[in-house]
Amino acid sequence: MDQYFIEEVRNSVGIVHVLSEYLTLKKAGKDHSALCPFHREKTPSFYVSESKKIFKCFGCGVSGDVFKFVEMIEGLSFPEAVKAVAQKAGIPLPQRSQLPAQAHEKDRLFSIMERATQFYQRCLYETSDSVLEYLRQRGVDREGIVQFRIGYAPRTGNALLKFLKEQNFRELEIDLCGLLKNTGSGLFHDKFRGRVIVPILDFTGRVIALGGRVFGDGIPKYLNSPETSIYKKGSNLFGLHLTKEPIRQKDFAILVEGYFDLILPYLNGVRNVVASLGTSLTMNQVKLIGRYTRNIVVNYDPDSAGVLATRRSIDLFLQEGFRVNVVSLPQGLDPDAFIRKEGVDAYTSQLKNSVPYIDFLLESAVRTEKGALSPKGKVDILNRLLPYVALLPNRIERSETVSKLGEKLRLDSSVILAELRKVATERKGDARIRIQLQQVVTKTEQRLIKLVLESREARGEVLPLLQADDFKGLTTEPIFRLLLDFYQRSRDITFLSLQDALQQEEEKQLLSELVLTSSEDPEPNRADALNCLKALKKLNLENAKRELQSRIAKAEKDRCLEEIDRLYKQKLEISRQLQLLT
Ligand code: UTP
Ligand code: MN
Repeated sequence: MDQYFIEEVRNSVGIVHVLSEYLTLKKAGKDHSALCPFHREKTPSFYVSESKKIFKCFGCGVSGDVFKFVEMIEGLSFPEAVKAVAQKAGIPLPQRSQLPAQAHEKDRLFSIMERATQFYQRCLYETSDSVLEYLRQRGVDREGIVQFRIGYAPRTGNALLKFLKEQNFRELEIDLCGLLKNTGSGLFHDKFRGRVIVPILDFTGRVIALGGRVFGDGIPKYLNSPETSIYKKGSNLFGLHLTKEPIRQKDFAILVEGYFDLILPYLNGVRNVVASLGTSLTMNQVKLIGRYTRNIVVNYDPDSAGVLATRRSIDLFLQEGFRVNVVSLPQGLDPDAFIRKEGVDAYTSQLKNSVPYIDFLLESAVRTEKGALSPKGKVDILNRLLPYVALLPNRIERSETVSKLGEKLRLDSSVILAELRKVATERKGDARIRIQLQQVVTKTEQRLIKLVLESREARGEVLPLLQADDFKGLTTEPIFRLLLDFYQRSRDITFLSLQDALQQEEEKQLLSELVLTSSEDPEPNRADALNCLKALKKLNLENAKRELQSRIAKAEKDRCLEEIDRLYKQKLEISRQLQLLT
């Protein structure tokens, strides 16, 4: 078996992760301990060290690495154990069917890429200082240039081609690396011209492709190697060879978009980063990250394309069982620009404030709807998000998330919870959750609408006291708005007159559902109607208070003293109104 492959597997799997499939491991200082599976014992003397990548039992004396363990516990030969572990970790086995000639060809491509990288590195120092100055201004010093093997491709025609030919490589092979441009009549020249070169290395550290950023302005901003026999776009992540250890140590990775979005954090000490380079993330890439951690913070650009890419990535990560958080940097900045502008400490605190993916989905759904949400809009958002909530592994987290949803969307969360519970008892994943509009109306709203429609007395009591603020943001807002309007213009209030005046089909339907669903309510009376109105006002004030509270929390975090002061005054006013109601 290929020694290189064995090493790679050993280095990329977590021994604790693998062994925990077989044992109940408990943290014991820096290590983990368990009851030894290889002899009988009542107190644990079996230890696993993640950093040393070994296990040892102080009772019976067995010890070894991850392969040894799998060999022993599964009764496998060594090569079989290596394969089994590789499979668990999603590392593809080296292809046996590869012909020697092909292997040879790939080796040549690897060395061409390596020499091309070295060539461009040299060119960087040989050209005028302006490129170095550009990099310095971008926060990349000499050391950074060396670490990332940054180079410069001269403007002139075919310096690289000439250099590689001198090294006895053939034009055709160089072309297979994607380094050349065919000018038509079988004539080649360098593909990269007048560009800052950032090589892309695979996770073992071999150069497999190049990215070239235009120096100055020009289109495209980045020119990248095409796919070649050694470069498959969706199977690599930029920077991983440098960042995989930090990722394992920190036990989380930050996913960013661009070359410099990785380079800048890295050079400033935030090293657990990977970059997907502006293409949409693939399952292969997710699995690659999954070898080192199951925790991800997605930090794509906060523009609309970035938001879309973030949503897609969330789905992939969830499928692989990741815990997913999201950071959206302020002022529309990418990590690169943010760190240059605000410094790395500001960046780490943004990371600390990353939010669970569900919060991100909710925020971005609400934001895309803009302005006040229609009842239908809310229920749509809810239905879009519930499958994600159902995916949350832990019941408490689920119910907290549901309350948050209810609060944000001003919907009755007990209904949402009930619906989720139904789903939980069915099969997860493909479960279809559908909440109907009328389900998310609180009993208070429903009762009040019914009373007002059914009893003239209740109308006379309630409508003079009803204010637009009382129902703002509720699912039933369009109905209450009409009621108030009809009352102020002394129009006749009946089920049918309201039905006619409602604009949207779903609003008409909501009204009939609310009025027609039978209830065992007692005969309506005045006191009842007033109580309902009070309850409605209270509901609304409490919602507003909660919202203020979270805005206060945010303002306190941002230390906006004036804002805090203003919000506290508002909160005080609401508390006062609440007191008047009780
Ligand atoms: P951006 O357009 O956000 O650029 O593309 P950037 O990374 O901020 O570029 P700088 O900071 O001005 O140098 C994000 C990523 O998308 C890929 C690159 O990987 C880039 O880093 N991209 C972008 C391309 O491949 N080609 C392009 O023309 C543009
Ligand atoms: Mn940038």
